[in-house]
Amino acid sequence: MAKITKLEDIVSLCKRRGFIFQSSEIYGGLASCYDYGPLGVELKNNIKKAWWKSMVQMRDDVVGLDCSILMHPLVWKASGHADKFADLIAECKKCNTRTRVDHLANHAEEHTEHISLDLAKVTAADLNNKVCPNCGAVGKFTEPMPFKLMFETQMGANIDDAMTLYLRPETAQGIFTNFRNVLDTTRVKIPFGIAQIGKSFRNEVTTKAFIFRTREFEQAELEFFCEPGTDDKWYEYWKQCRFNWYINLGLKKENLRMREHAKDELAHYAKGCVDIEYRFPFGSGDWQELEGIANRTDYDLRQHQRGIRTLNAWFENKGDLSKIQLKEEAEDYMSGPLSYFDDEKKTRYIPYVIEPSAGIDRSVLAFLVDAYDEEEVRGETRNLLRFHPALAPIKIGIFPLVKKDGMPEIGHNIYDSLKKYFTCFYDEKGAVGRRYRRQDEAGTPFCVTVDGQTLQDKTVTVRERDSMEQIRVATDQLAQFFREKLDV
Ligand code: GAP
Repeated sequence: MAKITKLEDIVSLCKRRGFIFQSSEIYGGLASCYDYGPLGVELKNNIKKAWWKSMVQMRDDVVGLDCSILMHPLVWKASGHADKFADLIAECKKCNTRTRVDHLANHAEEHTEHISLDLAKVTAADLNNKVCPNCGAVGKFTEPMPFKLMFETQMGANIDDAMTLYLRPETAQGIFTNFRNVLDTTRVKIPFGIAQIGKSFRNEVTTKAFIFRTREFEQAELEFFCEPGTDDKWYEYWKQCRFNWYINLGLKKENLRMREHAKDELAHYAKGCVDIEYRFPFGSGDWQELEGIANRTDYDLRQHQRGIRTLNAWFENKGDLSKIQLKEEAEDYMSGPLSYFDDEKKTRYIPYVIEPSAGIDRSVLAFLVDAYDEEEVRGETRNLLRFHPALAPIKIGIFPLVKKDGMPEIGHNIYDSLKKYFTCFYDEKGAVGRRYRRQDEAGTPFCVTVDGQTLQDKTVTVRERDSMEQIRVATDQLAQFFREKLDV
């Protein structure tokens, strides 16, 4: 029977091999913040590269963008985050620990990132039999109250005119605010998408499970603009496309599923939403959101048209968002600045948006969990990561069998010639078997060993990670051999 991977195995491997460390560890650590070490940063970059290649570079209908994290505060008023992006929390009267009500009340337990406040009709009476996860007290909760999730910061040195800004809680809004810029400066025509990868920040009430839910994380988001009426078709298309992306990069089909949101789970702006869920090795039901795909309708572009009209009120209230009411939609909103004119059909409309929104850190965790394996080899346990070659942090390990007879020099030459094309690692320390094991644990798909035979016929041993099979390849054929095998 296949061994079930435990989260502790992954955390321990990540620390031992330098994939992921606790942030500020030498100061005792900073809760829910993590640093990617030498292997981790390669893995994470490879996931981002694979996403960018498939979502932007291989497509004719998507362009890329990289927006600033700090944006005009009105953006968050218009998007709804300033007023609605909050979790309902209840405080335990015994130990003062605050817990998300949806987690306590088993309301869509653990599945949604954040439930809309209008949906959370839970009162203290509903929590009478609920247990505080910190101290175990039963039914000792306060009335639920909203807790805002956006981090605030100040911009400007002068106290009088310093402006309160927010660290973005999603990358999506920078795409909507640049919709007109992209339309005016490129040749895109609807249907088309704008893609972005970047950091987002949420002052999460409950962080959990290593890098699964943290307060600083990275998202890869696509906003795909389409004509109203074609949105259902594109929604189906992106669901399949995104599901297949994970499968093509090696996630096992049995560990991945799609879960359509029930009507009362949908965010206020969404017509439909599906989560791609991965069977993570923690939590009550194990299945947890990896990526969300939503039909956001024309909500965001229409809201930003209202936001732009609210600028005067923002100045009049000296930037105090709590005093500002978003202006009503103009009667001619259909021809507003964020509308689209279809040259061929001679029609104007506000585009609908389908949004596949993936978490990069969650993908890192899912790919690590899925690739992790332990097997018995000649009475010893072999730990390995069966990464898809495109994701493997190191593609080729290069070893001289011994540190003499000119083998290190040949090894170095091979290393110098291959590192131009692939991420390689040269190692001459210790028994070769142990060097193989170290690369197995790092997920390196191939190792090259320079041995006695190399000195005679200029061939080397190439050893494959998963099967441990060894073949001989001529040194002058190595680059071509790996180009075909790795195809990355
Ligand atoms: N623009 C839509 C949006 O942000 P979301 O479901 O809140 O939707 C999308 O977030 C993805 O971002 C999630 O599926 C998850 O992978 C990732 N994500 C959200 N909050 C996170 C957190 N606190 N830590 C790590 N990843 C997170």
